[in-house]
Amino acid sequence: MSGGLVTAAYIVAAILFIFSLAGLSKHETSKQGNIFGVVGMAIALIATILGPDSSNVGWIIVAMVIGGAIGVYLAKKVEMTEMPELVAILHSFVGLAAVLVGFNSFIGHDAGSMPQVMENIHLTEVFLGIFIGAVTFTGSIVAFGKLRGIISSKPLMLPHRHKMNLAAMVVSFLLMVWFVKTDSIGVEVFTLLLMTIIALAFGWHLVASIGGADMPVVVSMLNSYSGWAAAAAGFMLSNDLLIVTGALVGSSGAILSYIMCKAMNRSFISVIAGGFGTDGSSTGDDQEMGEYREASAEDVAELLKNSTSVIITPGYGMAVAQAQYPVHDITAKLRARGINVRFGIHPVAGRLPGHMNVLLAEAKVPYDIVLEMDEINEDFPETDTVLVIGANDTVNPAALEDPRSPIAGMPVLEVWKAQNVIVFKRSMNTGYAGVQNPLFFKENTQMLFGDAKDSVEAILRAL
Ligand code: TAP
Repeated sequence: MSGGLVTAAYIVAAILFIFSLAGLSKHETSKQGNIFGVVGMAIALIATILGPDSSNVGWIIVAMVIGGAIGVYLAKKVEMTEMPELVAILHSFVGLAAVLVGFNSFIGHDAGSMPQVMENIHLTEVFLGIFIGAVTFTGSIVAFGKLRGIISSKPLMLPHRHKMNLAAMVVSFLLMVWFVKTDSIGVEVFTLLLMTIIALAFGWHLVASIGGADMPVVVSMLNSYSGWAAAAAGFMLSNDLLIVTGALVGSSGAILSYIMCKAMNRSFISVIAGGFGTDGSSTGDDQEMGEYREASAEDVAELLKNSTSVIITPGYGMAVAQAQYPVHDITAKLRARGINVRFGIHPVAGRLPGHMNVLLAEAKVPYDIVLEMDEINEDFPETDTVLVIGANDTVNPAALEDPRSPIAGMPVLEVWKAQNVIVFKRSMNTGYAGVQNPLFFKENTQMLFGDAKDSVEAILRAL
Protein backbone atom coordinates (compact mmCIF):
# COMPACT_ATOMS: atom_id res chain seq x y z
CA MET A 1 0.00 0.00 0.00
CA SER A 2 1.48 3.39 -0.96
CA GLY A 3 1.96 6.22 1.56
CA GLY A 4 -0.75 8.29 -0.15
CA LEU A 5 -3.29 5.50 0.09
CA VAL A 6 -2.44 4.99 3.77
CA THR A 7 -3.01 8.72 4.43
CA ALA A 8 -6.36 8.56 2.63
CA ALA A 9 -7.35 5.51 4.70
CA TYR A 10 -6.32 7.35 7.87
CA ILE A 11 -8.53 10.31 7.00
CA VAL A 12 -11.51 8.00 6.40
CA ALA A 13 -10.81 6.24 9.72
CA ALA A 14 -10.54 9.56 11.58
CA ILE A 15 -13.91 10.69 10.15
CA LEU A 16 -15.47 7.37 11.17
CA PHE A 17 -14.14 7.85 14.72
CA ILE A 18 -15.79 11.28 14.89
CA PHE A 19 -19.09 9.76 13.66
CA SER A 20 -18.62 7.03 16.24
CA LEU A 21 -18.34 9.54 19.10
CA ALA A 22 -21.36 11.44 17.79
CA GLY A 23 -23.36 8.20 17.58
CA LEU A 24 -22.39 7.10 21.08
CA SER A 25 -23.77 10.28 22.58
CA LYS A 26 -27.41 9.07 22.30
CA HIS A 27 -28.91 5.66 23.13
CA GLU A 28 -30.87 5.55 19.92
CA THR A 29 -27.73 5.81 17.79
CA SER A 30 -25.22 4.12 20.06
CA LYS A 31 -25.16 0.79 18.18
CA GLN A 32 -24.51 2.66 14.95
CA GLY A 33 -21.77 4.65 16.73
CA ASN A 34 -20.11 1.41 17.79
CA ILE A 35 -20.22 0.06 14.24
CA PHE A 36 -18.59 3.25 12.91
CA GLY A 37 -15.84 2.84 15.52
CA VAL A 38 -15.24 -0.82 14.63
CA VAL A 39 -15.09 -0.11 10.88
CA GLY A 40 -12.78 2.88 11.45
CA MET A 41 -10.46 0.80 13.59
CA ALA A 42 -10.43 -2.05 11.04
CA ILE A 43 -9.47 0.40 8.26
CA ALA A 44 -6.79 1.94 10.48
CA LEU A 45 -5.28 -1.44 11.33
CA ILE A 46 -5.29 -2.73 7.76
CA ALA A 47 -3.75 0.52 6.42
CA THR A 48 -1.05 0.50 9.11
CA ILE A 49 -0.14 -3.15 8.64
CA LEU A 50 -0.02 -2.95 4.84
CA GLY A 51 1.58 0.53 4.84
CA PRO A 52 5.18 1.30 3.86
CA ASP A 53 6.38 1.65 7.50
CA SER A 54 5.51 -1.90 8.57
CA SER A 55 7.63 -4.96 8.27
CA ASN A 56 7.39 -8.46 9.75
CA VAL A 57 3.66 -8.59 9.03
CA GLY A 58 3.63 -12.25 10.06
CA TRP A 59 4.58 -11.35 13.63
CA ILE A 60 2.02 -8.54 13.75
CA ILE A 61 -0.70 -10.98 12.72
CA VAL A 62 0.37 -13.50 15.37
CA ALA A 63 0.26 -10.73 18.03
CA MET A 64 -3.14 -9.58 16.78
CA VAL A 65 -4.61 -13.08 16.86
CA ILE A 66 -3.43 -13.55 20.47
CA GLY A 67 -4.57 -10.04 21.55
CA GLY A 68 -7.87 -10.38 19.67
CA ALA A 69 -8.59 -13.77 21.24
CA ILE A 70 -7.97 -12.40 24.75
CA GLY A 71 -10.16 -9.37 23.93
CA VAL A 72 -13.06 -11.48 22.63
CA TYR A 73 -12.84 -13.83 25.60
CA LEU A 74 -12.83 -10.95 28.11
CA ALA A 75 -15.60 -9.04 26.36
CA LYS A 76 -17.83 -12.12 26.41
CA LYS A 77 -17.05 -12.96 30.01
CA VAL A 78 -17.18 -9.53 31.61
CA GLU A 79 -20.35 -8.57 33.48
CA MET A 80 -21.84 -5.16 32.79
CA THR A 81 -21.07 -4.21 36.40
CA GLU A 82 -17.39 -5.03 35.85
CA MET A 83 -17.13 -2.80 32.80
CA PRO A 84 -15.41 0.17 34.55
CA GLU A 85 -12.76 -2.19 35.94
CA LEU A 86 -12.13 -3.52 32.46
CA VAL A 87 -11.94 0.00 31.06
CA ALA A 88 -9.54 1.02 33.83
CA ILE A 89 -7.19 -1.90 33.19
CA LEU A 90 -7.34 -1.26 29.43
CA HIS A 91 -6.27 2.33 30.09
CA SER A 92 -3.27 0.98 31.96
CA PHE A 93 -2.25 -0.93 28.81
CA VAL A 94 -2.41 2.29 26.78
CA GLY A 95 -0.21 3.97 29.39
CA LEU A 96 2.27 1.09 29.37
CA ALA A 97 2.33 1.09 25.56
CA ALA A 98 3.16 4.82 25.56
CA VAL A 99 6.03 4.20 28.01
CA LEU A 100 7.41 1.38 25.85
CA VAL A 101 7.03 3.38 22.63
CA GLY A 102 8.82 6.27 24.35
CA PHE A 103 11.81 4.17 25.43
CA ASN A 104 11.91 2.46 22.04
CA SER A 105 11.85 5.79 20.30
CA PHE A 106 14.65 7.07 22.56
CA ILE A 107 16.83 4.00 22.01
CA GLY A 108 16.11 3.82 18.26
CA HIS A 109 16.67 7.47 17.40
CA ASP A 110 19.90 8.50 15.78
CA ALA A 111 21.26 11.59 17.56
CA GLY A 112 22.64 14.09 15.09
CA SER A 113 20.53 12.78 12.20
CA MET A 114 18.15 15.74 12.44
CA PRO A 115 18.48 19.50 12.95
CA GLN A 116 18.85 20.62 16.60
CA VAL A 117 15.33 22.08 16.80
CA MET A 118 13.75 18.87 15.53
CA GLU A 119 15.96 16.87 17.85
CA ASN A 120 14.76 18.94 20.84
CA ILE A 121 11.14 18.52 19.81
CA HIS A 122 11.62 14.78 19.47
CA LEU A 123 13.24 14.50 22.88
CA THR A 124 10.43 16.54 24.46
CA GLU A 125 7.86 14.22 22.83
CA VAL A 126 9.69 11.19 24.19
CA PHE A 127 9.87 12.66 27.69
CA LEU A 128 6.24 13.81 27.80
CA GLY A 129 5.00 10.56 26.24
CA ILE A 130 6.75 8.48 28.90
CA PHE A 131 5.58 10.82 31.70
CA ILE A 132 1.90 10.76 30.68
CA GLY A 133 2.08 7.03 29.93
CA ALA A 134 3.62 6.19 33.31
CA VAL A 135 1.06 8.31 35.23
CA THR A 136 -1.77 6.66 33.26
CA PHE A 137 -0.30 3.20 33.84
CA THR A 138 -0.10 3.21 37.64
CA GLY A 139 -3.13 5.51 38.06
CA SER A 140 -5.27 3.07 36.07
CA ILE A 141 -4.00 0.11 38.07
CA VAL A 142 -5.06 1.83 41.31
CA ALA A 143 -8.44 2.74 39.77
CA PHE A 144 -8.85 -0.91 38.75
CA GLY A 145 -7.98 -2.02 42.29
CA LYS A 146 -10.42 0.42 43.87
CA LEU A 147 -13.27 -0.49 41.53
CA ARG A 148 -12.65 -4.18 42.10
CA GLY A 149 -12.44 -3.69 45.86
CA ILE A 150 -8.82 -4.96 46.10
CA ILE A 151 -7.71 -1.49 47.23
CA SER A 152 -9.72 0.48 49.80
CA SER A 153 -12.04 3.05 48.23
CA LYS A 154 -11.21 5.49 51.05
CA PRO A 155 -8.84 8.29 49.98
CA LEU A 156 -5.19 7.84 50.94
CA MET A 157 -4.38 10.86 53.10
CA LEU A 158 -0.59 11.14 53.25
CA PRO A 159 0.72 14.26 55.01
CA HIS A 160 1.70 17.04 52.56
CA ARG A 161 0.17 15.07 49.71
CA HIS A 162 -0.51 18.14 47.54
CA LYS A 163 3.04 19.38 48.06
CA MET A 164 4.33 15.95 47.04
CA ASN A 165 2.24 16.05 43.86
CA LEU A 166 3.49 19.52 43.06
CA ALA A 167 7.08 18.51 43.77
CA ALA A 168 6.74 15.50 41.44
CA MET A 169 5.60 17.77 38.62
CA VAL A 170 8.24 20.44 39.21
CA VAL A 171 11.09 17.90 39.48
CA SER A 172 9.88 16.12 36.34
CA PHE A 173 9.82 19.43 34.48
CA LEU A 174 13.37 20.26 35.56
CA LEU A 175 14.49 16.77 34.55
CA MET A 176 12.93 17.35 31.14
CA VAL A 177 14.88 20.56 30.64
CA TRP A 178 18.08 18.75 31.64
CA PHE A 179 17.23 15.77 29.41
CA VAL A 180 16.71 17.96 26.35
CA LYS A 181 19.74 20.20 26.94
CA THR A 182 22.40 17.65 27.80
CA ASP A 183 24.74 16.04 25.29
CA SER A 184 25.70 13.21 27.60
CA ILE A 185 23.93 9.94 26.92
CA GLY A 186 24.47 8.92 30.54
CA VAL A 187 22.58 11.97 31.81
CA GLU A 188 19.81 11.36 29.27
CA VAL A 189 19.31 7.80 30.49
CA PHE A 190 19.50 8.89 34.14
CA THR A 191 16.96 11.72 33.79
CA LEU A 192 14.57 9.54 31.79
CA LEU A 193 14.69 6.67 34.27
CA LEU A 194 14.36 8.97 37.29
CA MET A 195 11.37 10.74 35.75
CA THR A 196 9.75 7.37 34.94
CA ILE A 197 10.03 6.29 38.57
CA ILE A 198 8.64 9.65 39.78
CA ALA A 199 5.77 9.50 37.24
CA LEU A 200 4.88 5.93 38.25
CA ALA A 201 4.73 6.95 41.92
CA PHE A 202 2.87 10.17 41.06
CA GLY A 203 0.18 8.30 39.09
CA TRP A 204 -0.27 5.83 41.93
CA HIS A 205 -0.52 8.53 44.58
CA LEU A 206 -2.78 10.79 42.49
CA VAL A 207 -5.52 8.17 42.17
CA ALA A 208 -4.97 6.60 45.61
CA SER A 209 -5.79 9.94 47.22
CA ILE A 210 -9.15 10.19 45.47
CA GLY A 211 -12.12 8.78 47.39
CA GLY A 212 -14.56 6.19 46.08
CA ALA A 213 -17.31 8.71 45.45
CA ASP A 214 -15.16 10.53 42.88
CA MET A 215 -14.09 7.35 41.06
CA PRO A 216 -16.37 7.89 38.04
CA VAL A 217 -14.56 11.13 37.32
CA VAL A 218 -11.21 9.41 37.81
CA VAL A 219 -12.07 6.70 35.29
CA SER A 220 -13.06 9.23 32.65
CA MET A 221 -10.03 11.37 33.51
CA LEU A 222 -7.73 8.35 33.02
CA ASN A 223 -9.56 7.76 29.76
CA SER A 224 -8.51 11.27 28.81
CA TYR A 225 -4.90 10.68 29.95
CA SER A 226 -4.75 7.47 27.93
CA GLY A 227 -5.82 9.50 24.88
CA TRP A 228 -3.04 12.04 25.42
CA ALA A 229 -0.57 9.18 25.97
CA ALA A 230 -1.66 7.69 22.63
CA ALA A 231 -1.34 11.11 20.94
CA ALA A 232 2.18 11.46 22.36
CA ALA A 233 3.00 8.00 20.98
CA GLY A 234 1.58 9.17 17.63
CA PHE A 235 4.03 12.08 17.58
CA MET A 236 6.94 9.79 18.39
CA LEU A 237 5.97 7.33 15.67
CA SER A 238 4.99 10.13 13.24
CA ASN A 239 1.61 8.44 12.89
CA ASP A 240 -1.06 11.04 12.10
CA LEU A 241 -4.00 8.79 12.82
CA LEU A 242 -2.69 7.94 16.28
CA ILE A 243 -2.34 11.66 16.98
CA VAL A 244 -5.91 12.36 15.82
CA THR A 245 -7.39 9.38 17.65
CA GLY A 246 -5.44 10.17 20.81
CA ALA A 247 -6.58 13.77 20.70
CA LEU A 248 -10.21 12.66 20.20
CA VAL A 249 -10.04 10.30 23.17
CA GLY A 250 -8.09 12.83 25.24
CA SER A 251 -10.46 15.71 24.65
CA SER A 252 -13.69 13.71 24.83
CA GLY A 253 -12.48 12.14 28.09
CA ALA A 254 -11.68 15.58 29.47
CA ILE A 255 -15.10 16.93 28.45
CA LEU A 256 -16.82 13.91 30.00
CA SER A 257 -14.83 14.37 33.24
CA TYR A 258 -15.86 18.02 33.31
CA ILE A 259 -19.54 17.18 32.73
CA MET A 260 -19.43 14.55 35.47
CA CYS A 261 -17.76 16.96 37.88
CA LYS A 262 -20.49 19.48 37.18
CA ALA A 263 -23.16 16.82 37.70
CA MET A 264 -21.59 15.87 41.04
CA ASN A 265 -20.92 19.48 42.01
CA ARG A 266 -17.21 18.76 42.32
CA SER A 267 -14.47 21.12 41.26
CA PHE A 268 -12.75 19.63 38.23
CA ILE A 269 -9.34 20.91 39.30
CA SER A 270 -9.70 19.57 42.83
CA VAL A 271 -10.61 16.08 41.60
CA ILE A 272 -7.81 15.84 39.03
CA ALA A 273 -5.34 17.26 41.54
CA GLY A 274 -5.84 14.10 43.60
CA GLY A 275 -8.69 14.80 45.97
CA PHE A 276 -7.69 18.41 46.61
CA GLY A 277 -10.14 19.91 49.09
CA THR A 278 -11.25 16.69 50.78
CA ASP A 279 -10.02 16.57 54.34
CA GLY A 280 -11.50 13.14 55.02
CA SER A 281 -12.65 14.34 58.44
CA SER A 282 -16.04 12.69 58.18
CA THR A 283 -16.55 9.37 56.50
CA GLY A 284 -20.11 9.20 57.70
CA ASP A 285 -20.09 5.45 58.24
CA ASP A 286 -20.84 3.52 61.41
CA GLN A 287 -23.28 6.21 62.48
CA GLU A 288 -26.38 5.27 64.43
CA MET A 289 -29.28 7.05 62.87
CA GLY A 290 -32.26 5.60 64.69
CA GLU A 291 -34.95 3.11 63.78
CA TYR A 292 -35.89 1.90 60.34
CA ARG A 293 -39.09 0.20 59.18
CA GLU A 294 -39.42 -2.93 57.09
CA ALA A 295 -42.05 -3.69 54.47
CA SER A 296 -43.06 -6.94 52.74
CA ALA A 297 -43.49 -7.40 49.00
CA GLU A 298 -47.28 -7.60 49.57
CA ASP A 299 -47.26 -4.26 51.42
CA VAL A 300 -45.38 -2.67 48.53
CA ALA A 301 -47.76 -4.16 45.95
CA GLU A 302 -50.69 -2.71 47.90
CA LEU A 303 -48.99 0.69 48.11
CA LEU A 304 -48.34 0.69 44.37
CA LYS A 305 -51.95 -0.21 43.57
CA ASN A 306 -53.10 2.81 45.56
CA SER A 307 -50.64 5.21 43.93
CA THR A 308 -51.29 7.45 40.96
CA SER A 309 -47.67 8.41 40.34
CA VAL A 310 -44.59 6.28 40.87
CA ILE A 311 -40.92 7.06 40.27
CA ILE A 312 -38.31 4.30 40.13
CA THR A 313 -34.71 5.31 40.90
CA PRO A 314 -32.41 2.44 40.03
CA GLY A 315 -28.77 2.08 41.09
CA TYR A 316 -25.89 -0.33 41.15
CA GLY A 317 -27.91 -3.01 43.03
CA MET A 318 -30.38 -3.30 40.14
CA ALA A 319 -27.44 -4.07 37.87
CA VAL A 320 -25.97 -6.65 40.27
CA ALA A 321 -29.32 -8.38 40.69
CA GLN A 322 -30.13 -8.07 36.95
CA ALA A 323 -33.53 -6.86 38.09
CA GLN A 324 -34.18 -4.71 35.03
CA TYR A 325 -36.40 -7.34 33.36
CA PRO A 326 -38.92 -7.75 36.23
CA VAL A 327 -38.66 -3.97 36.71
CA HIS A 328 -39.81 -3.61 33.10
CA ASP A 329 -42.69 -6.04 33.74
CA ILE A 330 -43.80 -4.20 36.86
CA THR A 331 -43.67 -0.90 34.97
CA ALA A 332 -45.83 -2.31 32.18
CA LYS A 333 -48.31 -3.73 34.69
CA LEU A 334 -48.64 -0.46 36.61
CA ARG A 335 -48.93 1.60 33.45
CA ALA A 336 -51.69 -0.74 32.24
CA ARG A 337 -53.56 0.25 35.42
CA GLY A 338 -53.24 3.92 34.44
CA ILE A 339 -50.50 4.70 36.98
CA ASN A 340 -47.92 7.25 35.87
CA VAL A 341 -44.58 5.42 36.16
CA ARG A 342 -41.29 7.14 35.40
CA PHE A 343 -37.61 6.52 36.03
CA GLY A 344 -35.18 9.00 37.60
CA ILE A 345 -31.58 8.45 36.53
CA HIS A 346 -28.72 9.95 38.48
CA PRO A 347 -25.70 10.78 36.27
CA VAL A 348 -23.39 8.49 38.28
CA ALA A 349 -25.86 5.75 39.23
CA GLY A 350 -24.25 2.35 38.85
CA ARG A 351 -20.61 2.00 37.97
CA LEU A 352 -20.24 3.67 34.59
CA PRO A 353 -21.78 6.59 32.74
CA GLY A 354 -25.12 5.62 31.25
CA HIS A 355 -25.11 2.28 33.13
CA MET A 356 -28.80 2.46 34.12
CA ASN A 357 -29.90 3.73 30.71
CA VAL A 358 -28.23 0.76 29.04
CA LEU A 359 -29.84 -1.75 31.41
CA LEU A 360 -33.30 -0.24 31.03
CA ALA A 361 -32.93 -0.07 27.25
CA GLU A 362 -31.85 -3.73 27.29
CA ALA A 363 -35.09 -4.58 29.13
CA LYS A 364 -37.06 -2.50 26.59
CA VAL A 365 -38.30 0.14 29.02
CA PRO A 366 -39.61 2.99 26.80
CA TYR A 367 -37.07 5.83 26.49
CA ASP A 368 -39.63 8.57 27.05
CA ILE A 369 -40.31 7.56 30.68
CA VAL A 370 -36.60 7.41 31.54
CA LEU A 371 -35.69 10.89 32.76
CA GLU A 372 -32.45 12.50 33.86
CA MET A 373 -32.09 13.68 37.47
CA ASP A 374 -32.54 17.35 36.56
CA GLU A 375 -35.73 16.61 34.64
CA ILE A 376 -37.40 14.76 37.48
CA ASN A 377 -36.01 16.12 40.74
CA GLU A 378 -38.76 18.70 41.18
CA ASP A 379 -41.51 16.11 40.79
CA PHE A 380 -40.80 14.08 43.94
CA PRO A 381 -43.06 16.13 46.27
CA GLU A 382 -46.04 15.29 44.02
CA THR A 383 -45.14 11.60 43.81
CA ASP A 384 -47.00 8.94 45.80
CA THR A 385 -44.39 6.22 45.81
CA VAL A 386 -40.70 6.03 44.97
CA LEU A 387 -39.01 2.67 44.47
CA VAL A 388 -35.29 2.98 45.18
CA ILE A 389 -34.00 -0.20 43.56
CA GLY A 390 -30.39 -0.90 44.58
CA ALA A 391 -29.42 2.78 44.76
CA ASN A 392 -27.79 4.30 47.81
CA ASP A 393 -25.27 7.16 47.41
CA THR A 394 -27.30 8.72 44.61
CA VAL A 395 -30.35 9.14 46.90
CA ASN A 396 -28.47 10.13 50.06
CA PRO A 397 -29.85 13.32 51.69
CA ALA A 398 -26.53 13.73 53.60
CA ALA A 399 -25.09 15.09 50.34
CA LEU A 400 -27.30 18.14 50.83
CA GLU A 401 -27.65 18.20 54.60
CA ASP A 402 -24.23 17.29 56.03
CA PRO A 403 -21.42 19.60 54.87
CA ARG A 404 -18.84 17.23 56.41
CA SER A 405 -20.02 14.22 54.42
CA PRO A 406 -17.60 12.92 51.77
CA ILE A 407 -20.39 13.34 49.22
CA ALA A 408 -21.38 16.83 50.45
CA GLY A 409 -22.54 19.06 47.61
CA MET A 410 -23.20 16.23 45.17
CA PRO A 411 -26.67 16.66 43.70
CA VAL A 412 -28.87 13.68 44.54
CA LEU A 413 -32.31 12.42 43.62
CA GLU A 414 -34.48 13.98 46.32
CA VAL A 415 -36.61 10.87 46.79
CA TRP A 416 -37.37 11.56 50.47
CA LYS A 417 -39.72 14.36 49.39
CA ALA A 418 -42.23 11.80 48.05
CA GLN A 419 -45.13 10.43 50.15
CA ASN A 420 -43.65 6.95 50.43
CA VAL A 421 -40.20 5.61 49.71
CA ILE A 422 -39.38 1.92 49.40
CA VAL A 423 -35.69 1.02 49.47
CA PHE A 424 -34.72 -2.32 47.92
CA LYS A 425 -31.45 -3.70 49.26
CA ARG A 426 -30.08 -6.75 51.02
CA SER A 427 -28.79 -5.27 54.27
CA MET A 428 -28.14 -1.97 56.03
CA ASN A 429 -24.68 -1.79 54.40
CA THR A 430 -23.43 1.46 52.92
CA GLY A 431 -23.10 2.16 49.18
CA TYR A 432 -19.99 2.72 47.12
CA ALA A 433 -18.82 5.87 48.92
CA GLY A 434 -18.99 4.05 52.27
CA VAL A 435 -21.37 6.64 53.72
CA GLN A 436 -24.38 5.88 55.92
CA ASN A 437 -27.69 6.97 54.43
CA PRO A 438 -30.18 8.93 56.63
CA LEU A 439 -32.89 8.21 54.02
CA PHE A 440 -33.30 4.69 55.45
CA PHE A 441 -34.32 6.14 58.82
CA LYS A 442 -36.85 8.70 57.59
CA GLU A 443 -40.47 8.32 58.63
CA ASN A 444 -41.80 7.91 55.11
CA THR A 445 -39.20 5.27 54.19
CA GLN A 446 -39.61 1.50 54.38
CA MET A 447 -36.92 -1.06 53.67
CA LEU A 448 -37.63 -4.09 51.49
CA PHE A 449 -34.73 -6.43 52.22
CA GLY A 450 -33.54 -9.10 49.79
CA ASP A 451 -32.06 -9.46 46.34
CA ALA A 452 -33.62 -6.78 44.16
CA LYS A 453 -34.69 -9.24 41.46
CA ASP A 454 -36.41 -11.56 43.95
CA SER A 455 -38.14 -8.61 45.62
CA VAL A 456 -39.41 -7.15 42.34
CA GLU A 457 -40.61 -10.57 41.21
CA ALA A 458 -42.42 -11.06 44.53
CA ILE A 459 -44.19 -7.71 44.07
CA LEU A 460 -45.07 -8.69 40.52
CA ARG A 461 -46.70 -11.88 41.79
CA ALA A 462 -48.59 -9.95 44.47
CA LEU A 463 -49.84 -7.48 41.86
P1 TAP B 1 -24.36 2.46 45.50
O1 TAP B 1 -24.26 3.67 46.34
O2 TAP B 1 -23.11 1.75 45.10
O3 TAP B 1 -25.31 1.45 46.28
C1 TAP B 1 -25.73 0.26 45.70
C2 TAP B 1 -26.65 -0.42 46.68
O4 TAP B 1 -27.17 -1.57 46.04
C3 TAP B 1 -25.95 -0.85 47.93
O5 TAP B 1 -26.41 -0.11 49.00
C4 TAP B 1 -26.25 -2.34 48.05
O6 TAP B 1 -26.77 -2.58 49.37
C5 TAP B 1 -27.36 -2.55 47.03
N1 TAP B 1 -27.25 -3.84 46.36
C6 TAP B 1 -26.15 -4.47 45.90
N2 TAP B 1 -26.47 -5.64 45.37
C7 TAP B 1 -27.81 -5.78 45.50
C8 TAP B 1 -28.74 -6.78 45.14
N3 TAP B 1 -28.35 -7.90 44.52
N4 TAP B 1 -30.04 -6.58 45.43
C9 TAP B 1 -30.44 -5.46 46.04
N5 TAP B 1 -29.61 -4.47 46.41
C10 TAP B 1 -28.31 -4.63 46.13
O7 TAP B 1 -25.19 2.71 44.16
P2 TAP B 1 -25.69 4.02 43.43
O8 TAP B 1 -26.71 4.74 44.23
O9 TAP B 1 -26.03 3.55 42.05
O10 TAP B 1 -24.44 4.98 43.41
C11 TAP B 1 -23.33 4.74 42.56
C12 TAP B 1 -22.06 4.95 43.34
O11 TAP B 1 -20.97 4.41 42.59
C13 TAP B 1 -21.75 6.41 43.59
O12 TAP B 1 -21.07 6.58 44.80
C14 TAP B 1 -20.83 6.72 42.41
O13 TAP B 1 -20.00 7.83 42.67
C15 TAP B 1 -20.03 5.44 42.33
N6 TAP B 1 -19.46 5.17 41.02
C16 TAP B 1 -20.17 5.50 39.91
C17 TAP B 1 -19.61 5.30 38.67
C18 TAP B 1 -20.42 5.77 37.49
S1 TAP B 1 -19.72 6.52 36.31
N7 TAP B 1 -21.71 5.60 37.47
C19 TAP B 1 -18.33 4.70 38.54
C20 TAP B 1 -17.64 4.31 39.72
C21 TAP B 1 -18.23 4.56 40.95
P3 TAP B 1 -26.70 -4.05 50.02
O14 TAP B 1 -25.27 -4.47 49.94
O15 TAP B 1 -27.20 -3.85 51.39
O16 TAP B 1 -27.59 -4.92 49.19
